[in-house]
Amino acid sequence: MKKFAFVLFAGMMAVIVISSCQQDTEKTYDTRWAGETMEEILNNIEDQFGGFSQAMKEVSYRYNDLYWAGMDENWGYAEYQLDKLTDAILKGFVRRPDREASAAQFVNTNIPRLMETIENGDKDAFVESFDRYAASCNTCHEMEDVAFIQVIIPEERTTVVRF
Ligand code: HEC
Repeated sequence: MKKFAFVLFAGMMAVIVISSCQQDTEKTYDTRWAGETMEEILNNIEDQFGGFSQAMKEVSYRYNDLYWAGMDENWGYAEYQLDKLTDAILKGFVRRPDREASAAQFVNTNIPRLMETIENGDKDAFVESFDRYAASCNTCHEMEDVAFIQVIIPEERTTVVRF
Protein backbone atom coordinates (compact mmCIF):
# COMPACT_ATOMS: atom_id res chain seq x y z
CA MET A 1 0.00 0.00 0.00
CA LYS A 2 2.85 2.31 0.90
CA LYS A 3 4.52 1.48 -2.39
CA PHE A 4 1.34 2.22 -4.32
CA ALA A 5 1.05 5.62 -2.60
CA PHE A 6 4.63 6.45 -3.53
CA VAL A 7 4.13 5.53 -7.18
CA LEU A 8 0.97 7.58 -7.26
CA PHE A 9 2.79 10.56 -5.69
CA ALA A 10 5.74 10.29 -8.11
CA GLY A 11 3.34 10.07 -11.03
CA MET A 12 1.48 13.17 -9.91
CA MET A 13 4.75 15.09 -9.54
CA ALA A 14 5.79 14.08 -13.06
CA VAL A 15 2.48 15.33 -14.45
CA ILE A 16 2.89 18.65 -12.62
CA VAL A 17 6.48 19.12 -13.82
CA ILE A 18 5.68 18.24 -17.44
CA SER A 19 2.58 20.41 -17.61
CA SER A 20 4.38 23.41 -16.08
CA CYS A 21 7.17 23.05 -18.66
CA GLN A 22 4.61 23.02 -21.43
CA GLN A 23 2.93 26.06 -19.97
CA ASP A 24 6.21 28.00 -20.10
CA THR A 25 6.65 27.62 -23.82
CA GLU A 26 3.02 28.16 -24.65
CA LYS A 27 2.34 31.02 -22.27
CA THR A 28 0.92 34.04 -24.01
CA TYR A 29 0.73 37.59 -22.75
CA ASP A 30 -1.79 40.33 -23.20
CA THR A 31 0.18 43.44 -24.26
CA ARG A 32 -0.70 46.63 -26.12
CA TRP A 33 1.66 46.15 -29.07
CA ALA A 34 4.62 44.05 -27.93
CA GLY A 35 3.20 40.70 -29.07
CA GLU A 36 1.91 37.51 -27.46
CA THR A 37 4.71 35.02 -26.95
CA MET A 38 7.84 35.91 -24.97
CA GLU A 39 9.98 35.57 -28.10
CA GLU A 40 7.74 37.88 -30.10
CA ILE A 41 7.68 40.41 -27.25
CA LEU A 42 11.46 40.49 -26.83
CA ASN A 43 12.01 40.79 -30.59
CA ASN A 44 9.59 43.69 -30.85
CA ILE A 45 11.08 45.53 -27.89
CA GLU A 46 14.63 45.09 -29.23
CA ASP A 47 13.44 46.39 -32.56
CA GLN A 48 11.89 49.48 -31.01
CA PHE A 49 15.16 50.34 -29.23
CA GLY A 50 16.84 50.59 -32.64
CA GLY A 51 20.46 49.97 -33.57
CA PHE A 52 23.50 52.21 -33.77
CA SER A 53 21.93 55.14 -35.60
CA GLN A 54 19.63 55.63 -32.63
CA ALA A 55 22.70 56.00 -30.39
CA MET A 56 24.34 58.34 -32.94
CA LYS A 57 21.34 60.65 -33.04
CA GLU A 58 21.79 61.17 -29.32
CA VAL A 59 25.58 61.46 -29.64
CA SER A 60 25.15 64.12 -32.31
CA TYR A 61 22.84 66.26 -30.16
CA ARG A 62 25.14 65.97 -27.14
CA TYR A 63 28.23 66.70 -29.26
CA ASN A 64 26.73 70.04 -30.27
CA ASP A 65 25.69 71.06 -26.76
CA LEU A 66 29.04 69.87 -25.40
CA TYR A 67 30.86 72.19 -27.79
CA TRP A 68 28.81 75.26 -26.86
CA ALA A 69 29.12 74.42 -23.17
CA GLY A 70 32.89 74.60 -23.65
CA MET A 71 32.61 77.89 -25.53
CA ASP A 72 30.58 79.31 -22.62
CA GLU A 73 33.05 77.83 -20.13
CA ASN A 74 30.02 76.19 -18.56
CA TRP A 75 32.14 73.31 -17.28
CA GLY A 76 29.39 71.68 -15.25
CA TYR A 77 27.23 71.34 -18.37
CA ALA A 78 30.20 70.24 -20.49
CA GLU A 79 30.99 67.43 -18.06
CA TYR A 80 27.33 66.47 -17.93
CA GLN A 81 27.11 66.27 -21.74
CA LEU A 82 30.33 64.31 -22.18
CA ASP A 83 29.17 61.82 -19.53
CA LYS A 84 25.81 61.33 -21.23
CA LEU A 85 27.41 61.11 -24.68
CA THR A 86 29.76 58.37 -23.45
CA ASP A 87 26.85 56.53 -21.91
CA ALA A 88 24.90 56.75 -25.19
CA ILE A 89 27.71 55.32 -27.31
CA LEU A 90 28.38 52.51 -24.80
CA LYS A 91 24.69 51.57 -24.90
CA GLY A 92 25.02 51.55 -28.69
CA PHE A 93 27.75 48.91 -28.37
CA VAL A 94 25.46 46.72 -26.28
CA ARG A 95 23.05 46.71 -29.24
CA ARG A 96 25.76 46.55 -31.96
CA PRO A 97 28.90 44.94 -30.44
CA ASP A 98 30.62 44.70 -33.86
CA ARG A 99 30.99 48.49 -33.93
CA GLU A 100 33.02 48.74 -30.73
CA ALA A 101 36.49 47.95 -32.12
CA SER A 102 36.48 50.92 -34.51
CA ALA A 103 35.74 53.28 -31.61
CA ALA A 104 38.66 52.22 -29.41
CA GLN A 105 40.64 55.42 -29.90
CA PHE A 106 37.60 57.62 -29.54
CA VAL A 107 36.55 55.95 -26.28
CA ASN A 108 39.93 55.24 -24.69
CA THR A 109 41.92 58.32 -25.72
CA ASN A 110 39.80 61.17 -27.02
CA ILE A 111 37.02 61.13 -24.45
CA PRO A 112 39.38 61.04 -21.42
CA ARG A 113 41.58 63.74 -22.93
CA LEU A 114 38.63 66.05 -23.51
CA MET A 115 37.29 65.29 -20.02
CA GLU A 116 40.60 66.36 -18.55
CA THR A 117 40.38 69.81 -20.19
CA ILE A 118 36.83 70.17 -18.82
CA GLU A 119 37.91 69.20 -15.31
CA ASN A 120 40.74 71.74 -15.52
CA GLY A 121 38.39 74.42 -16.88
CA ASP A 122 40.94 75.18 -19.60
CA LYS A 123 39.19 76.64 -22.65
CA ASP A 124 42.25 76.72 -24.95
CA ALA A 125 43.00 73.09 -24.21
CA PHE A 126 39.31 72.27 -24.68
CA VAL A 127 39.27 73.84 -28.16
CA GLU A 128 42.40 71.97 -29.21
CA SER A 129 41.21 68.70 -27.76
CA PHE A 130 37.75 69.08 -29.31
CA ASP A 131 39.37 69.26 -32.76
CA ARG A 132 41.01 65.88 -32.31
CA TYR A 133 37.90 64.50 -30.68
CA ALA A 134 35.78 65.52 -33.70
CA ALA A 135 38.37 64.03 -36.06
CA SER A 136 38.06 60.72 -34.25
CA CYS A 137 34.26 60.72 -34.83
CA ASN A 138 35.09 60.83 -38.54
CA THR A 139 37.83 58.21 -38.31
CA CYS A 140 35.27 55.79 -36.92
CA HIS A 141 32.79 56.70 -39.66
CA GLU A 142 35.43 55.90 -42.24
CA MET A 143 36.24 52.57 -40.57
CA GLU A 144 32.54 51.69 -40.37
CA ASP A 145 31.82 52.45 -44.06
CA VAL A 146 29.82 55.60 -43.42
CA ALA A 147 32.52 58.05 -44.56
CA PHE A 148 29.76 60.21 -46.05
CA ILE A 149 28.93 61.24 -42.46
CA GLN A 150 31.59 63.88 -41.79
CA VAL A 151 31.03 65.91 -38.66
CA ILE A 152 32.42 69.43 -38.38
CA ILE A 153 33.12 71.76 -35.48
CA PRO A 154 29.72 73.43 -34.85
CA GLU A 155 29.58 76.83 -36.55
CA GLU A 156 26.23 78.18 -35.54
CA ARG A 157 24.94 78.22 -32.04
CA THR A 158 21.84 76.03 -31.95
CA THR A 159 21.78 74.98 -28.30
CA VAL A 160 19.02 76.39 -26.14
CA VAL A 161 21.26 76.33 -23.05
CA ARG A 162 23.17 79.50 -22.26
CA PHE A 163 25.25 80.02 -19.14
C1 HEC B 1 31.72 53.08 -33.84
C2 HEC B 1 32.46 54.27 -34.24
C3 HEC B 1 31.74 55.59 -34.24
C4 HEC B 1 32.10 56.68 -33.49
C5 HEC B 1 33.22 56.78 -32.48
C6 HEC B 1 31.20 57.73 -33.88
N1 HEC B 1 30.31 57.28 -34.81
FE1 HEC B 1 28.77 58.37 -35.59
N2 HEC B 1 28.14 56.74 -36.64
C7 HEC B 1 28.77 55.51 -36.65
C8 HEC B 1 28.03 54.60 -37.49
C9 HEC B 1 28.39 53.14 -37.77
C10 HEC B 1 26.92 55.33 -37.99
C11 HEC B 1 25.81 54.78 -38.92
C12 HEC B 1 24.83 53.99 -38.09
C13 HEC B 1 23.86 53.14 -38.87
O1 HEC B 1 23.99 53.02 -40.08
O2 HEC B 1 22.97 52.57 -38.23
C14 HEC B 1 27.04 56.67 -37.44
C15 HEC B 1 26.12 57.68 -37.69
C16 HEC B 1 26.26 58.97 -37.24
C17 HEC B 1 25.34 60.06 -37.55
C18 HEC B 1 24.07 59.94 -38.39
C19 HEC B 1 22.95 59.58 -37.42
C20 HEC B 1 21.57 59.50 -38.03
O3 HEC B 1 21.13 58.36 -38.29
O4 HEC B 1 20.96 60.53 -38.23
C21 HEC B 1 25.82 61.17 -36.93
C22 HEC B 1 25.22 62.57 -36.99
C23 HEC B 1 27.02 60.79 -36.21
N3 HEC B 1 27.25 59.44 -36.43
C24 HEC B 1 27.76 61.65 -35.43
C25 HEC B 1 28.86 61.27 -34.67
C26 HEC B 1 29.60 62.16 -33.80
C27 HEC B 1 29.30 63.64 -33.62
C28 HEC B 1 30.59 61.41 -33.23
C29 HEC B 1 31.65 61.84 -32.27
C30 HEC B 1 31.26 62.64 -31.12
C31 HEC B 1 30.44 60.05 -33.74
N4 HEC B 1 29.40 60.00 -34.60
C32 HEC B 1 31.26 59.01 -33.35
C33 HEC B 1 29.94 55.17 -35.97
C34 HEC B 1 30.60 55.98 -35.07
